[in-house]
Amino acid sequence: MPDHAVSPDGETFAIPGPDEYAPEMERLERLVAAARAEDKEIVVVMGVGFVGAVMAAIIADTVDKTTGKPSKFVIGCQRPSVRSYWKIPVLNRGVSPVKAEDPEVEPMIARCVLEKKTLTATFASDCLRLADCVVVDVQCDYLKNDLGNMRSGETDMAALETTMRVIGENVSPHCLVLIETTVAPGTTEFVAMPIMRKAFRARGIESEPVLAHSFERVMPGREYVKSIRDFWRVCSGCTPEARQRVVKFLDEVLNTDEFPLTVMDRPIESETTKIVENSYRATILAFLHEWSLFAERNGVDLIKVYKAIKVRPTHSNIIFPGPGIGGYCLPKDGGLGYWAYKHVLGFEDQDRVFKITPTAIDVNDTRALHAAELVRDGLRNMGRYIAGARVLLLGASYREDVGDTRYSGSELVVRKLTEMGAEMHVHDPYVDHWYELEKQDTYPAPGRSLARFFRNQEDLVNLRVEKDLKTAIEGAEAVVLAVRHAPYLDLAPDDVVAWAGGPLAVVDCFGILSDAAIRRYFELGCEVKALGRGHIQRIKEEVRKTTP
Ligand SMILES: NC(=O)c1ccc[n+]([C@@H]2O[C@H](COP(=O)([O-])OP(=O)(O)OC[C@H]3O[C@@H](n4cnc5c(N)ncnc54)[C@H](O)[C@@H]3O)[C@@H](O)[C@H]2O)c1
Repeated sequence: MPDHAVSPDGETFAIPGPDEYAPEMERLERLVAAARAEDKEIVVVMGVGFVGAVMAAIIADTVDKTTGKPSKFVIGCQRPSVRSYWKIPVLNRGVSPVKAEDPEVEPMIARCVLEKKTLTATFASDCLRLADCVVVDVQCDYLKNDLGNMRSGETDMAALETTMRVIGENVSPHCLVLIETTVAPGTTEFVAMPIMRKAFRARGIESEPVLAHSFERVMPGREYVKSIRDFWRVCSGCTPEARQRVVKFLDEVLNTDEFPLTVMDRPIESETTKIVENSYRATILAFLHEWSLFAERNGVDLIKVYKAIKVRPTHSNIIFPGPGIGGYCLPKDGGLGYWAYKHVLGFEDQDRVFKITPTAIDVNDTRALHAAELVRDGLRNMGRYIAGARVLLLGASYREDVGDTRYSGSELVVRKLTEMGAEMHVHDPYVDHWYELEKQDTYPAPGRSLARFFRNQEDLVNLRVEKDLKTAIEGAEAVVLAVRHAPYLDLAPDDVVAWAGGPLAVVDCFGILSDAAIRRYFELGCEVKALGRGHIQRIKEEVRKTTP
């Protein structure tokens, strides 16, 4: 096991040894004593990842509504693992461990760490002994064992269970423990509560833990902070006391005046809310896949169809699925619900009850494979083979104008085309490192990369994200427009063909090309294919008729 962690910037940090824990606790005790002297509440945030780092800063930025003075002192606690330890020293410099497009994130973390001194980070979980409130933001994953079959997957709640155990072993009996992690419904009451209760009893504590749940609705992008602080929250507690305490806490740290809380009777209801809202979203996206295929084969432009539907106020949230549905939440959350029904709640008829949620996830998880087919077909129509072709993917992230690559459809497009022998290149203005490829042997965890579902993936560790669009396009035989990033929306066909050095296959996965652009590509001798856009064939025939 290496004794150091490396940050994404390449800086190496030695993982603390056993003798560093006592001095670290002394540092924290001093800081906490000073904070208590100023009447601040002590909050420990467990897990300083995408959500926890920003949530910790939001809490640390809280001021007392009457005095205007900072009212919380926050300790971000992160396990000192080889993968994640670097987040602690980085945060303690006042630098955000997560890269966000939101301009509010960096200054907020710097302000809380360096100026207000209301935020620090540590590896010492003993800090839980000092807490008045603990917020749990560790991950809870759903691991799929087959591509396109979520039913054979399983929930991995090891990190959450460990965290709950450590919390139970350390916190004071009256500490509020708020689980924000998206969990399988039933987890707070039937998994976390028993773990904490057992730990309490072992310490001779007879009272019930003060345990609550309130899930995150954070959206990566330019509104990162707002999507946590200025957004509606749902919460609940295991006991009336826990419910009342979590409402008070969220009222203090979030903008609940403008975005009122919804308070549920039981945690399973708040947990289910998260799972259902994300399964709903995954379902309306998956449902358009079949109509996307229908459209491609019958001269229909689904982009125009869905935009025409969207004007109806009752249907305004219809959205086009692009090359599959990525992000951390939508691909997994339905799985947590499906799994919990059997493994937490004890029912055996899960496949009779759950028809739509698993199908939606399976459809979304494999839609990108069809984009790869279109690249193959586009090249074939130009008399070329995918094997050996230089293919450029434009956009590695899962949605427009963010650098988040988790479970992006683009990853599957690259993997399938690589399997088919293409020489892949990738450009993305927002992504510096595509870790799903560069570190596929260990990321998201050893043996869990999507690489395992395809042949010949080994060389993808060497694929680097290119930053100059013109250079990236040079020599391309096919270009895949995978994400609606701003720089791709107005690309001029004449420029693309000139930069590529000749006609190429252009595959539009996200309704990016205007009809005029499609027409121009055909006039320039290119082939155009697109997800859900069957009218392209008509444009092609028109151009053929008019071009000698
Ligand atoms: N990222 C999003 O866009 C998003 C949106 C809504 C909800 N959520 C939910 O929020 C939760 C957290 O997600 P995330 O994106 O922040 O995950 P993440 O993987 O970025 O962060 C989790 C962090 O917890 C740390 N951790 C794990 N075990 C620990 C332990 N025992 N003690 C201390 N730290 C520990 C990990 O090292 C990691 O840094 C998940 O349930 C997720 O589903 C995420």
